[in-house]
This record gives sequence, structure tokens and C-alpha cells, in this order.
Amino acid sequence: MVFKKVVIAGGGVLGSQIAFQAAYCGLDVTVWLRSEGSVGRTLPKIEQTKKAYEDAIELMASPAGKEDANWSFGIADRESFDKEKCLANVQRAHGTIKLELDMAKAVADADIVIESVVENAAEKIVFYKTLAPLLSPKTILVTNSSTLLPSTFAKYTGRPDKFLSLHFANAIWKNITAEIMAQGETSQESFLNVMEFASLIRMMPLPVNKEKSGYLLNSMLVPFLLSGLDLYVNGVSDPESIDKAWVYGTGSPRGPFRILDVVGLKTAYNIVMEYQKVPGLLSPLLKKMLMPYNFKGMAKVLKDMMDQGKLGKASGEGFYKY
Ligand SMILES: NC(=O)c1ccc[n+]([C@@H]2O[C@H](COP(=O)([O-])OP(=O)(O)OC[C@H]3O[C@@H](n4cnc5c(N)ncnc54)[C@H](O)[C@@H]3O)[C@@H](O)[C@H]2O)c1
Repeated sequence: MVFKKVVIAGGGVLGSQIAFQAAYCGLDVTVWLRSEGSVGRTLPKIEQTKKAYEDAIELMASPAGKEDANWSFGIADRESFDKEKCLANVQRAHGTIKLELDMAKAVADADIVIESVVENAAEKIVFYKTLAPLLSPKTILVTNSSTLLPSTFAKYTGRPDKFLSLHFANAIWKNITAEIMAQGETSQESFLNVMEFASLIRMMPLPVNKEKSGYLLNSMLVPFLLSGLDLYVNGVSDPESIDKAWVYGTGSPRGPFRILDVVGLKTAYNIVMEYQKVPGLLSPLLKKMLMPYNFKGMAKVLKDMMDQGKLGKASGEGFYKY
């Protein structure tokens, strides 16, 4: 399938990043927004994203860019990296993203519409019901939802065979995973088309052949982080030793507490409070294994640290000092 016109619904944290990445890759990008107020909130997000791309390109061009951790594969491959060309691409992308309040006008002739509106099932359903009659028959529709399953929305889309999940990660230029998840009625053709689209915008497409809350990454990461925290709050060991057990025992670059510092302690707190309740995130076996975990203790440790201003790497201190 040929992808030319891309529409992003919602210009929040992720919506602005997806828009920027697709425009950076040369596609015709429109962001649909609900109100003038949203336009006022989206414009600065696009500016921040532009700055993040420019900073990433500077880093890639510096000696530190030699490290994989400092390379943004969404921006360029190492072999063909040309700083001036990348910066010119950023300028071009910035100048071409269109913002549109009229939904019919925004989605007319779209090849793909990427729904990235607020994570609330009821509000997403209203959105899909309004959108469905306005779409061209050819349009593929995807949701970027992190915790809601696409089958919840398929019947409101008017095209269940062309509807699925395309889940991006925050800091899309660097964290290039694109988890592509089918629901029961998604056609194989649409699934493959979305895999192709993800590659076209320099993402790494990862197939998720059946519905699973948490997709691939969070299905593994959440139990891992909770397991590290549980060892700590029960006094089994300290964060540094727990991290060392993981790093030196497996050859992985970071243990759970380094990861928690990067994710940020506020998000970690939300994971402890909310993720265990997401239906289907944990397999029945894992759920049984995690049941004796000290969730109260985890929440208290994280809350105390947050109250002391220790919010993780971004604030200069979390489980480690930076
Ligand atoms: N933030 C992340 O790290 C992240 C990562 C992957 C996926 N996601 C997913 O992306 C989607 C958007 O998340 P976000 O972090 O960009 O949120 P956000 O709150 O930053 O942005 C939400 C956008 O939706 C708009 N909006 C709010 N209510 C709406 C409604 N009723 N109808 C239409 N538009 C509405 C807002 O104006 C805003 O533009 C969610 O489904 C979320 O799960 C987020």
C-alpha cells in the first residue's frame, strides 16, 4: 500500500511526536484537534519536539554519539548519517505539519488515521463514532492506546477489518518500537500494511498477533520492575545489589532500579497503584506469583521519595544520584 497522507488525531505528548516523525520521513501530515484551546497546547509541544530532534542530532554528531544509547535510529542510520541533511529535514518537517479543527476536512483522503487522544475508553468511543462516517473506504485506522484493547473500539469504526493497534513509545525518535496488535476482525492485509507503514516512518515494527494488554514490552517490564521493588521493600536486599544481581547475572545494561529512575518515580508509583488492576496485563500464573507482593510497601517507599523531591534521573536523584 502507498502511504502519503497521515492524520494524527490528538496533539498531546505522543500525538505531536508521531506527527513530527511522519513529517520528518517526508509524509503529508495533518493533526486533527478538537478546539482552538488544543491548538494552543499542541503548538508548543511541536516546538519542544523539534528541539528534541535537533538536540538528538547534535548528540549523534558528537563523540558521545558513538554509544548506541546516544543514537536515535528514528532519525538516521549510522552508515548514512549526515548532520546537515538531518537538520534540514527537521526544519522541513516543522514547516509542513498542518493543524486542522474540521474533522471531515482533516481526514479526507487519508491513507492512515492514528488515534492518539486521551486514554479514556468513553471519550475514544465518541471520537470513533464521529469519525467513522467521514473516512474514505481505503483509510486504515489505528489506535495508539497503551492500556485499552482495540476490540473495545472495533465496532464503532465502521471498518473493523482495517482497525488495529499501533503503539508507539515516548521519545519516538530514539525509542523506535512500534507494537502492532491485531484484534479479532483485523484483516491480515491491514496488519501487514501497518507493519509496512511503521517501517516507512523508521520505526521497528513488532508484531503482536493477538490481543494482549501491555503488548510485548510492558507485559515483561512491569512484572520485572515490581519484582525488584518487592525484594527491596521487604528488606531482602538494597537497590544497588538487586541491580547488580541482574546486570552481572544476565549481561543486561540496567537493573530494575536504574530503569525505575529513568522511567521516573511518579510513573513507577502509577504502575504500582494501577497496572496490577489492568485486566489481562498479567497472565493468570504471573498474577498468582505477584499476589503475595508487598504493593503497600512499594507505594509507601515511592511516595516518601517523591515527597523528598527524588523523582528519578530527570530530577537529579531517585534510587541513585545523578
Ligand atoms: N504518553 C506516553 O508516554 C504514551 C506512550 C504510548 C502511547 N500513549 C497513548 O497515546 C494516547 C495519547 O496519550 P498522550 O500521552 O499523548 O496524552 P495527552 O494527554 O498528552 O494528549 C491527549 C490529546 O487528546 C486530546 N483530547 C483529549 N480529550 C479528547 C477527546 N474527548 N476527543 C478528542 N481529543 C481529545 C487532547 O487535546 C490532546 O491533544 C493515549 O491513548 C496513550 O495511552 C501514550
